[in-house]
Amino acid sequence: MAAGFFISKSAGIVTIVLGVGAVATIIALSVVYARERNKVTDTADTPTTTAATTTAATTGPAEPWNRWRLPTTLMPESYEVTLQPFLKPKDNSTYIFKGNSSVVFLCVEATNLILIHSNKLNYTQQGAFLTSLQALDNSNVPSITRTWLETTTQYLVVQLEAPLQEGQRYRLVSSFTGELADDLAGFYRSEYEDELGVRRVVATTQMQATDARKAFPCFDEPAMKANFTVTLIHPSDHQAISNMPPRSTWQQEIDGEMWNVTEFETTPKMSTYLLAFIVSQFTYVHNTSENVLIRIWGRPEAIAEGQGEYALQVTGPILKFFERHYNTAYPLPKSDQVGLPDFNAGAMENWGLVTYRENALLYDNTYSSIGNKERVVTVIAHELAHQWFGNLVTLQWWNDLWLNEGFASYVEYLGADSAETSWSIKDLMVLNEVYTVMATDALTTSHPLSFDEDEINTPAEISEVFDTIAYSKGASVLRMLSDFLTEDVFKEGLQSYLHTFAYGNTIYRDLWVHLQEAVRKNNVSLPDTISNIMDRWTLQMGFPVVTVNTSTGTVTQKHFLLDPTSEVQRPSVFNYTWIVPITWKTSENVGTDRYWLTEDSATNEQFRVSSSNWLLLNLNVSGYFRVNYNQENWDQLLEQLSRDPQAIPVINRAQIIDDTFNLARAKYVNVTLALDTTRFLSQETEYMPWQAALNNLEYFQLMFDRSEVFGVMTKYIKQQVTPLFSYYKNITNDWATRPSGLMDQYNEINAISTACSYGIAECQQLATGYFNDWKNNVTSNPVPPNLRSSIYCSMVATGGEEAWDFIWDRFQEATVVSEADKLRTALTCSPHPWILNRYLQYTVDPSKIRRQDATSTINSIASNVVGQPLAWDFIRGNWRTLFSQYGGGSFSFSRLILAVTQRFSTEYELQQLEQFKAENQDIGFGSGTRALEQALERTRTNINWVKENQATVLAWFQSATATTRS
Ligand SMILES: *[C@@H]1O[C@H](CO)[C@@H](O)[C@H](O)[C@H]1NC(C)=O
Ligand SMILES: *[C@@H]1O[C@H](CO)[C@@H](O)[C@H](O)[C@H]1NC(C)=O
Ligand SMILES: *[C@@H]1O[C@H](CO)[C@@H](O)[C@H](O)[C@H]1NC(C)=O
Ligand SMILES: *[C@@H]1O[C@H](CO)[C@@H](O)[C@H](O)[C@H]1NC(C)=O
Ligand SMILES: [Zn+2]
Repeated sequence: MAAGFFISKSAGIVTIVLGVGAVATIIALSVVYARERNKVTDTADTPTTTAATTTAATTGPAEPWNRWRLPTTLMPESYEVTLQPFLKPKDNSTYIFKGNSSVVFLCVEATNLILIHSNKLNYTQQGAFLTSLQALDNSNVPSITRTWLETTTQYLVVQLEAPLQEGQRYRLVSSFTGELADDLAGFYRSEYEDELGVRRVVATTQMQATDARKAFPCFDEPAMKANFTVTLIHPSDHQAISNMPPRSTWQQEIDGEMWNVTEFETTPKMSTYLLAFIVSQFTYVHNTSENVLIRIWGRPEAIAEGQGEYALQVTGPILKFFERHYNTAYPLPKSDQVGLPDFNAGAMENWGLVTYRENALLYDNTYSSIGNKERVVTVIAHELAHQWFGNLVTLQWWNDLWLNEGFASYVEYLGADSAETSWSIKDLMVLNEVYTVMATDALTTSHPLSFDEDEINTPAEISEVFDTIAYSKGASVLRMLSDFLTEDVFKEGLQSYLHTFAYGNTIYRDLWVHLQEAVRKNNVSLPDTISNIMDRWTLQMGFPVVTVNTSTGTVTQKHFLLDPTSEVQRPSVFNYTWIVPITWKTSENVGTDRYWLTEDSATNEQFRVSSSNWLLLNLNVSGYFRVNYNQENWDQLLEQLSRDPQAIPVINRAQIIDDTFNLARAKYVNVTLALDTTRFLSQETEYMPWQAALNNLEYFQLMFDRSEVFGVMTKYIKQQVTPLFSYYKNITNDWATRPSGLMDQYNEINAISTACSYGIAECQQLATGYFNDWKNNVTSNPVPPNLRSSIYCSMVATGGEEAWDFIWDRFQEATVVSEADKLRTALTCSPHPWILNRYLQYTVDPSKIRRQDATSTINSIASNVVGQPLAWDFIRGNWRTLFSQYGGGSFSFSRLILAVTQRFSTEYELQQLEQFKAENQDIGFGSGTRALEQALERTRTNINWVKENQATVLAWFQSATATTRS
């Protein structure tokens, strides 16, 4: 699955305007840690975490139905599932579906108990019981003594008079109804208005991780693979699609009404979480690629406007790329991809029927930005990568999720690169994955990539493993592994792994075994086995900072912690040391061999350079670590940057900025060194260094935009960005044309958004000019798509109520979802509290703001310096409502808490946060529990940081802006 936080990843979508910053990166904490933390740092009176309440059942009563994991006595082999969604409400309010299903399973070990997952389903009695049982192979079937639903652990329980016999097959049959709710989980309902304003209903699914059991009773664990034969009963004017192509269709009268029935081909053996069923009036565009039918589905209006064309154009090449990459044919006869108006995650890799948020699949040439395009191609590549890695070969259990998601998050860049060869998209991994996740992984509250199987049991625990550590750190360490093995050796091991385990399940070590074999065959020289090297990166949290003293050649490593005063509570068998692959160069020559740091400290003669030269470690940031040097070497690097920045590779120019800012946060270097690395930006036009600087300066903005520092900081940023603004103005003929490359287009967006938000008059005039033109001719939007996010924001920020209303009207009538997203976000840029307060109210009215967009809208309001206290009050005041509406299992809850508290840096705010925690203990914080703890930790850290740095930072900005005047 592509998680919700994919939304914020590219510059084309989120822009830094008037305090509307990139979304806070800190998302993840481990369940285990939450438990530890309650013990260690807080007084013992804070037991109300999800983890604490749910562990009881894991270790508690011995009854099998009180345990979260299925017994291994029964193995499902095949299911026949028939579902009939009613797309009109039964009683003007509830929508339902009816279903019946049967499952054939093999008894592996004699037992008189059947446990099968079932959640929120009502059963039609089969005689005296909820279900009936038959024996296959003419054997006897024991009679049922009792059936019941165990709602906590989500089982249908069947007790038998005598045991099932080992080696025998049985069939369990049941009929049921469920609610087709708009809760984005299981079999659910999505709605949209067609071009005539008529409301249309779609029945669709999201099974991952534990919601297949909400659609039909099933053994809902990823290792319980089976063949599925699905039948959908649907209105004759609605299409039905599922993982496989239809096998046969017919019409049938049911309760006096005619229905169409579509039965699909039997699937290969697969996991329940990858099933999908959709009944809709969507249309599609299609083509075929080597006998695989490719279809892109969406609202008829969107498809008619050609919004599916881009996805269609890239899907074939990406499928072909992965077939070669995996040396395995696409496993299914067809590939459907569907853009849905309501969808919780970014996208879901259901086998053969991938589902997306509309903005992750549909692309409109005249409305969408380059960022929208990049998102479409990378999310498609991510989901298609899973069709083999994850779907054909599946991890045994959710504790290994990081390998599934980390892998897809890595190869999505390779797949996207194969479709957009001129974009250099692979470089973006450093900013989007490596540095993003390092912000979280540098906290003592991070967690290792790998969990033990018995640490992850409940649905809440499972949903919590889908975090930035799994996705982005997973991707980062696999990229590092692939770099030191070489992509070809990595591929060889990968292919052997896929061939060996097709249609089966694995644990992550199985991949290491196959990679090790490829290493042996290719005589790759490594300091240790893959397993020993990688254990350091997967079994302990965090990463090292590697420090070199270039006058002596000594090189050391240390666990990098953003807050130097924090203490690591979690022990590691490796004592927080790593086996670190180091690439490097000096000002005189390019380093050739890779240097492996295997100890805490070592000396490498090659790292000793004369005082007029510099040494640079971690070329292209292929290694997952930060780098620090002696002051002399930093001085040499800064000198090189100011004299001729091109001598340092572009990714490393970004690295120098990001490393120094983070080293300064952790007190390895002075904050002034970090700020000094931004001086050369006045002559820099490349995207990566700029984006690194803007990401880091955003923290300064958050800490200081309510203090006097902000005045002089604004002045400095205007000074640095003015040449960039002029550069783009020139090469685009006054913003009339687009720069050519992806990175150039992104940096043009940076230029505009920074210039407008920090108040460069020419930029704001540009926005006002566009606004006036647009008002005069509403049907002809004059703003170039790439610049829309920034320009709309500027319009709202400077245009008062009139501009807000105008943009709101455009939002109401937008039919392209990426356009609607830009407008919706721009509406949060208003400086007027009453307007922002009204907008906050809209977020809890689904007729105004879709549920899926509510939290991101509130988060945007909170990132506006004026909106922040309003959003905080709003959340405090409405916690009960918000919790009941959005608390259930979605990702967004923790982001909500983190976003509204991201500016907190005073004792008063800390008290408010503590009070909020105390006052709401009875309601709880659900999936935001860990986030709340993190917000508290972060606030304390911020208080210290501001105290220690405010004067220095103020002085630095003053002198940096004074010198240019002379
Ligand atoms: C459904 O709505 C219609 C029209 O508003 C009303 O006449 C009817 O009584 C409602 N039915 C139920 C079951 O509420
Ligand atoms: C299931 O049963 C409960 C309790 O009788 C009822 O409230 C609910 O509406 C039923 N759901 C469906 C989908 O029939
Ligand atoms: C429903 O069945 C009829 C008769 O087989 C067929 O003509 C029609 O295309 C079907 N509708 C859909 C949406 O498949
Ligand atoms: C079940 O899946 C396996 C593996 O994909 C396949 O070989 C087999 O033919 C399938 N069974 C049926 C009945 O389709
Ligand atoms: Zn994924």
